[in-house]
Amino acid sequence: MSLQIKKTDILIIGTGLAAVATALHVPSSLSVLLVSKGEVTSTNSDLAQGGIASSYLEETSEAHKEDTMLASNRTSCSERVDILVKEGRRAIEEMERFGVRFDRDEDGYALGREGAHQLHRIFHAGGDETGRHVMRQLRRSLPDNVSILEHVLVHDLVMKEGRVVGALAFHHEEMLQLEAGAVILATGGIGGLIDWTSNAKTVTGDGLVLANRCGAKLTHLQQIQFHPTLLAAEEPHLVTEALRGAGAKLVDASGNHVMAHDPLGSLAPRDVVARVLTDHVGLVFLDTTKVKRLRDRFPKLVATCDKLGIDLRQIPVRPGLHFHMGGIEVDESGRTDVDGLYAVGEVADTGVHGTNRLASNSLLECWVFGKRVAEAIQVNDASLATSDVMVYDISPETFQAFRHQIGKWLTISPNLDEMKCFLQNTQTLTLTKHVTRQLSEQTLQLDAARLLAQSILEMERYDEHDLSTRTAATVSD
Ligand code: SIN
Repeated sequence: MSLQIKKTDILIIGTGLAAVATALHVPSSLSVLLVSKGEVTSTNSDLAQGGIASSYLEETSEAHKEDTMLASNRTSCSERVDILVKEGRRAIEEMERFGVRFDRDEDGYALGREGAHQLHRIFHAGGDETGRHVMRQLRRSLPDNVSILEHVLVHDLVMKEGRVVGALAFHHEEMLQLEAGAVILATGGIGGLIDWTSNAKTVTGDGLVLANRCGAKLTHLQQIQFHPTLLAAEEPHLVTEALRGAGAKLVDASGNHVMAHDPLGSLAPRDVVARVLTDHVGLVFLDTTKVKRLRDRFPKLVATCDKLGIDLRQIPVRPGLHFHMGGIEVDESGRTDVDGLYAVGEVADTGVHGTNRLASNSLLECWVFGKRVAEAIQVNDASLATSDVMVYDISPETFQAFRHQIGKWLTISPNLDEMKCFLQNTQTLTLTKHVTRQLSEQTLQLDAARLLAQSILEMERYDEHDLSTRTAATVSD
């Protein structure tokens, strides 16, 4: 097998908003290489519908902070939330400077509202196609010092004298040695580990495994968010919470409001609504009859429902895996505890989301912390090194059987027996040095699932609800 070698000052693994925001802000004297496992657009950011939460038009960021803290049951880190909401006030005009156009109506910005927000503060673009519009424009704005390589699976990070100095990867099926002065993990969350998710299929927790192998600390991995409204169809599709912000109501088959008991009704925090819908016996629908200009405001949803022959007035929904709050522990500038290694976006645990992320705070986090990583990054000398990580020697059929098993326990009410069984079965797998792209990819997925299972089981042992409040110290010390 031939070996290609590439050298760069900064290697960013991922091409979603966290990766692009960072790349847009690093000094232009540094070379930056972004790599994506699939196509450049196969990211959760590209799929984002609701938008970007920002108190740009409010007097202060206090109400946004309060909503963020309340949605998380006050388990978010207060100091980090301050950073998010205060620096997030500037995010909208900063993105506009790169050419992003947010939707407007006759009164100015056409702001949306989502669960647990007191106010309309969600900026969106192209209705419910915010991710596609924002990412297309920001990628077009990347300067000449930044390049992108698609179809790169990072097999392992390589270290020299305690520092991360690059990565060993596959470009398609060819081995690729990436020498880098600093590596930033922006690999997103974990949703692609199972089928019933709002996430891109390529988003499978690789960053957690890569960081863990280098000895970086992972925190709160058991904190996983389920979105209440995925389209209850054969293939999962997200039905944005912004639809409820625009007046849609969650009803049962007889038209009764299933969130009537909650003061915030259908706009209660996401974890609360997802739990109610999971426990509900019988189908739940989004009744959209009160939503004005549905076709203009939610073009993606309309196209999906039209294609599947679903009545837009009564959209069947059910919860699905959506977001990972836990991740690689980082300080306020995305530094991990390993020299040369940074993390940003969903793969990082910045502490801003606690046990339940507030809607549309994730793209905001990517922007705010991406800029911070770019400002703080220290570039060492890139160096040649290698990796001797072995992979599980399993067939595609065995791997699919494991994925099926993961789908059984990675649910809103984790099945602990299935989880223990998965850990036992994967514990005894044979390893091989004959690494192929497929075996490497399968291994990363199984190891990511193992990390989650271990963390969930550990947590169950200590504290069923994990409601301890975080401080900046508990997140990054
Ligand atoms: C949505 O549009 O409902 C998802 C937004 C988010 O996860 O923040």
